[in-house]
Amino acid sequence: MANVIVIGAQWGDEGKGKITDLLSKSADVVVRYQGGVNAGHTVVVNDQTFKLHLIPSGILYPDTECIIGSGTAIDPEILIEELDRLEALSVSTNNLLISQTAHVTMPYHRIIDKASEERRGSQKIGTTGRGIGPTYADKSERIGIRVQDLMDKEEARDRLSWTINYKNSILEKLYNKPPLEPETVIKQYLEYAERLRPHVVDSSLKIYEAIDKKRNILFEGAQGTLLDLDHGTYPYVTSSNPVAGGACVGAGVGPTTIDRVIGVAKAYTTRVGEGPFPTEIEGGVGDILGDRGAEFGTTTGRKRRCGWFDATIGRYAVRINGLDCLAITKLDVLDELDEIKVCVAYDIDGQRCEHFPSSPRQFARCRPIYETLPGWRQSTEDCRSLKDLPKQALDYLKFLAELMEVPIAIVSLGASRDQTIIIEDPIHGPKRALLYTNGTPAGHGA
Ligand code: IMP
Repeated sequence: MANVIVIGAQWGDEGKGKITDLLSKSADVVVRYQGGVNAGHTVVVNDQTFKLHLIPSGILYPDTECIIGSGTAIDPEILIEELDRLEALSVSTNNLLISQTAHVTMPYHRIIDKASEERRGSQKIGTTGRGIGPTYADKSERIGIRVQDLMDKEEARDRLSWTINYKNSILEKLYNKPPLEPETVIKQYLEYAERLRPHVVDSSLKIYEAIDKKRNILFEGAQGTLLDLDHGTYPYVTSSNPVAGGACVGAGVGPTTIDRVIGVAKAYTTRVGEGPFPTEIEGGVGDILGDRGAEFGTTTGRKRRCGWFDATIGRYAVRINGLDCLAITKLDVLDELDEIKVCVAYDIDGQRCEHFPSSPRQFARCRPIYETLPGWRQSTEDCRSLKDLPKQALDYLKFLAELMEVPIAIVSLGASRDQTIIIEDPIHGPKRALLYTNGTPAGHGA
């Protein structure tokens, strides 16, 4: 048995949805530990496409318990829409549990998120506009509304009226926005509370009980390492902690519970929103990657910025998350390229730098140092084992594993479940090197 964290090793949108869906098959419990409806993942099962924002993709397995943990920001309106949509597609949601200590995204959070972005002008972050930053800001300010606050009608009324009035003064005086009608919001949120009530639990206790029964738990991170509030490309980050350490806080478990950490990285890089992106390719190959990879945000529909794989960022993700292995996704998107570049280090003012700089100013000045590999110019979509891959594709993967000093466990070559090469099952397999380079194990743990 193993308790595993799955994190995004880049700027989010790495294809974690598909990987967590695959791993959920071996998991008894899947826990989402941070973020809110800013996240979005698409899972394709038997030609049916599921778009999920908050509910862990484990919900598609009837026996898997899915928990929305206390580190998340829950927008009840969107969560209920998601529940309804799944039920309409005959997917049971009985196994969904919601933490009573998770914070609730309120209408004023969404308004403030958008209004504050407008105010920032050229300093804007490019948020998803889903109220995530303001929800977490209220959590830190200790004026947030938690799921359990909505469960007692009288208490909810008191808390909501005070908070809505307080927020109304901010909306009117600071942002020049019309105030919210407290009674309308209260009525609506009490209705949401009734709909969600059967799912609300003490999630940390539930997880503890599952650990005690030696059940396999998968901790599912949203967004990615470089969007982490503390360790990402601040201020162009989200307001929670997608890194592996965030799983312990957001789920309410101790670090000794965790057996493995799996990083998910695309075979190239994408980013949505503002902020530096050293390997970005504007036009040309960037457009090819965007078109072939259908690089549009699941949540906002925004076009994602595309660029080459950045191993400096990859090594940083290995360090910050303590990655045991990697899942490389969307390798097939590179199928038609003549040559493929990989950023192996940065040039900062003429100095070679192997490490991701923690200073945003330095990061903005990073120029990629590339190595160029030959493309394979043939389809990999139907490859089901490493030996099916063209030699150049295998060499590319080995190159990435060597650069990051971490083995690759899974390679994904398309959206459906079967378009995957599982080199070794990261949950049940032994913990050892998974991709060998020139006969020597590539990575630690061998
Ligand atoms: P927020 O999380 O909506 O506050 O947005 C902050 C930054 O994180 C923006 O650059 C967003 O584009 C980015 N972001 C938030 N969620 C995701 C995601 O799921 N995938 C990729 N980028 C995201």
